[in-house]
Amino acid sequence: MSALALHDLCVSFGDGDEQIAALDHVSLTVDGGELVAVVGASGSGKSSLLAVAGALRSPDSGTVMIGDVDITNATPSDRATVRRTKVGFVFQSSNLFEALTAIDQLIYMGRLAGMSSRDARAEAARLLDVVGLAQKANRRPGKLSGGERQRVGTARALISGPAVLLVDEPTSALDHSRALDVVTLLRDLTHDRGIATVMVTHDLSVVELADRVVTMRDGRLGEIADFTRVGD
Ligand SMILES: Nc1ncnc2c1ncn2[C@@H]1O[C@H](COP(=O)(O)OP(=O)(O)O)[C@@H](O)[C@H]1O
Ligand SMILES: [Mg+2]
Repeated sequence: MSALALHDLCVSFGDGDEQIAALDHVSLTVDGGELVAVVGASGSGKSSLLAVAGALRSPDSGTVMIGDVDITNATPSDRATVRRTKVGFVFQSSNLFEALTAIDQLIYMGRLAGMSSRDARAEAARLLDVVGLAQKANRRPGKLSGGERQRVGTARALISGPAVLLVDEPTSALDHSRALDVVTLLRDLTHDRGIATVMVTHDLSVVELADRVVTMRDGRLGEIADFTRVGD
């Protein structure tokens, strides 16, 4: 059983003649401990794929399984529970709460996922240490660099112990060396914790760190064996 199994997904937007297929019969399975990179131009459907995989929305057709749980037609409230407990999200700009310190960002998410205050605090401290930010646990986002913010965002996504980690353009605000650091961290956490990670990017310089690379074009997914051919 795969940690994440997407089968024959279709999502379209618009109405009448103006239908745009954001996802056009997309299938993808990701095992625990595997980092899959999804590359494709802007508008190719990458974020739509993450939205469906992460229970932010239901597909028009197809199926979405997280482990042995079929979330395809889950109610909005069940989808919210799935997001809080089984899925971690890391976004481009890290989406941190400006008013909260680094450690409080994590504790807040841990509490939302149902952890006791004590467990959330202990795990938050441990995760900040894992991402190299133990010394900066009490800083607010405004006092952190872009790379550090992204690492806080990554730690925050992991506090609930998610089976699936969904990452959208994590490096677009970072220089090359920080980008490599962040993706290396994502890969190591994926491998060490047995998480199924899908990372959307159009930064070809980081895809070599992925275990597998797939391409998206006009809502369709293609497998490629050799990332150096992505730009063909
Ligand atoms: N909420 C929406 N309403 C209408 N069209 C949308 C919406 N979200 C995405 N689309 C369209 O679906 C296609 C795929 O978008 P998206 O998944 O955001 O691609 P990407 O993340 O690769 O840039 C695009 O043509 C986009 O304009
Ligand atoms: Mg996008």
